[in-house]
Amino acid sequence: MTKIRVAIFASGTGSNAVNLIRFFKNHDSFEVAFVLSNKADAPVLESSQNLGIPTISCSNREVGEAGFLTNICRAENIDWIVLAGYLRLIPTDLIEAFSNKIINLHPALLPKYGGKGMHGRNVHQAVIANRETESGITVHFVNEEFDSGRIIAQFHCSLDENDTIESLEVKISYLEQSYFPVVVQTTLLNQRHE
Ligand code: GRF
Repeated sequence: MTKIRVAIFASGTGSNAVNLIRFFKNHDSFEVAFVLSNKADAPVLESSQNLGIPTISCSNREVGEAGFLTNICRAENIDWIVLAGYLRLIPTDLIEAFSNKIINLHPALLPKYGGKGMHGRNVHQAVIANRETESGITVHFVNEEFDSGRIIAQFHCSLDENDTIESLEVKISYLEQSYFPVVVQTTLLNQRHE
């Protein structure tokens, strides 16, 4: 059977992109076709290359242009796009071309703590400032607005008054590393069999 071709988009460190690449390495059903970043100096590019995955570096202007990302993904015969710390809005034409085939990982329990500017430490800072007793991660489909597509799965962690932005970051990273690749795998395989 032909493998499902996955593109990963990432803007930063890439701990989740690397985790996905490792998880899908030598997988029977999937292959990571490339990692694309809108930041030429994003560490995710080098980490991915070190794992033998081709990378594509683009400017913010390019990734916002209608047709640009869609053309790349079509040319590479991509089936699914996974956003792993990708910080740009996805253009409408790409969402239409890959309807319900783009997945994002968010480091909080959506619909709380989502939307423009809610990424990375900003999220954890807001969660701690509001003295939440829990946080977690959300895996969801991507639509035209930041963090508002249909939720696929959520995983929780508890917080107490001693938690800091740093300790919350550790808890969230643990959940992401433990669950994200498995949720991606299940979602993609379920759709293949629908
Ligand atoms: C992760 O916390 C993810 O939930 C969010 O961006 C962060 C990316 O981290 N979307 P990394 O680049 O994968 O280390």
